[in-house]
Amino acid sequence: SLVILDFGSQYTQLIARRIRQMGYYAEILPYNAKPSGNIKGIILSGSPFSVYEKNAPKPDNSIYELNVPILGICYGMQLVAEKFEGKVAWAQKREYGYAKIYIDKQDDLFFNIKNENIVWMSHADRIDKLPEGFETISHTQNSPYAAIRNLDKKIWAIQFHPEVSHTQNGNIILENFVSRICGIKKDWNMSDFLEKAIYDIKQEVKDNKVLCAISGGVDSSVLVVLLNKAIGDNVIPVFINNGLLRQNEEVSVQKAFEKLGIKINYIDASELFLTRLKNVKDPEQKRKIIGHTFIDVFRDFVLKLGDIEYLAQGTLYPDVIESVSVKGPSDVIKSHHNVGGLPKDLKFKLIEPFRFLFKDEVRQLAKQLNLDDSFVNRHPFPGPGLAIRIIGEVTKQKLEILRQADDIIVEEIKKSGFYDKVWQAFGVLLDLKSVGVMGDKRTYDYTIVLRVVESLDGMTANWTYLPYDVLNGISTRIINEVSHVNRVVLDISNKPPATIEWE
Ligand code: XMP
Repeated sequence: SLVILDFGSQYTQLIARRIRQMGYYAEILPYNAKPSGNIKGIILSGSPFSVYEKNAPKPDNSIYELNVPILGICYGMQLVAEKFEGKVAWAQKREYGYAKIYIDKQDDLFFNIKNENIVWMSHADRIDKLPEGFETISHTQNSPYAAIRNLDKKIWAIQFHPEVSHTQNGNIILENFVSRICGIKKDWNMSDFLEKAIYDIKQEVKDNKVLCAISGGVDSSVLVVLLNKAIGDNVIPVFINNGLLRQNEEVSVQKAFEKLGIKINYIDASELFLTRLKNVKDPEQKRKIIGHTFIDVFRDFVLKLGDIEYLAQGTLYPDVIESVSVKGPSDVIKSHHNVGGLPKDLKFKLIEPFRFLFKDEVRQLAKQLNLDDSFVNRHPFPGPGLAIRIIGEVTKQKLEILRQADDIIVEEIKKSGFYDKVWQAFGVLLDLKSVGVMGDKRTYDYTIVLRVVESLDGMTANWTYLPYDVLNGISTRIINEVSHVNRVVLDISNKPPATIEWE
């Protein structure tokens, strides 16, 4: 397979996703891994570090002895240059953004590519002197070494990022490396994965029972359907209503599974959640209370059921990689609550069939499994639900207001054709009232914030430029139809420095 060594670049996962989308299996390993087995090629990712920094992450020397093709990208290029005694220095002209590369030499990497291409650069270091045995195969105006190679050593390195969509023909360059240079065959598709996953689950679980908590999101839903295919009624799906769900969600989730012939255990714990959230205003405290309460309710249910051997979780590949990668000491920004965060004292064996999948791959699986489109393309919804979209104390009245507003937002965004183009579209209810006038009467009511963002993975996000008539439609409907709201405002902040959710 193809191995991508992760030196901490924000684009590492994107490299893997691009390659998998083309149908080749790619795996991400920590920068210092010693890949072994049937490795056909290695990609060295970018990094926030400079190679000459004291703590700069370096790969294990053994990778250069595997005699498989290596492609260094950005920092990966500087690693190669440093390793073979070229010179890397701080670039006086930092290159960030678009640049034009000119191809100087025929190379398999550039097969089927024009001589001039717009690419995406993002680097402050550059190669000053080529290492022995290397030659340049492409340049830009600022840099004689946009791409270099050493055919004897089977090493290629490029300064730009072929994985980002701004790079013209970036996919072709990546595929050239994987297919033409490494000789890897297409062997990655979701229907093969499905077959194998079902087989593996059967082998592992046998006649035992598997518990699986449903959040209403795509991952846990697909998981339940997959398990049902593999082991039938031995999967026990649980759906806990925490009272913080969207309009009619508890009904629509149950209906969707009914349609597939899967019966789920529905637990209405909304009163308990709301009681525990009484008077709580602090965002982190809300998150913690919701997380703990979820565990309590879940534990009660499990104890009533008696012996259950397995717990299935919809853990995705990004969660698995993040735990092993180069990460500086990063602050807890928000304590995430997922269906995944389950009681540690209940001794289950875990099964996590999606450990190696990206979210878009789970969506493809959902299609294969005939899950409703409404599930497949659903926007992400946070575990703590509407509680973190209500600023200040969470009350039944505020939940009702936000549910109605949220419903209108989703409906209008769908009608406008934007639903499938954006990452999320939702409302936030502020703990703030303002004066308005309705008929001839003074009102003093709440404010709804409209939050619509585009994003690839939720890590960074940009607010969406919605047409004025869509904005106007949403605002007019909310103010006319939702009592106790007399004002709608638009959130125009990007992440970072803002976050997508308000709490
Ligand atoms: P932020 O607000 O951190 O959100 O920019 C990034 C993405 O994560 C979602 N989110 C959560 N998802 N449990 C989840 O499963 C959580 O506790 C949680 N908090 C935020 C958020 O909706 C966005 O898509």
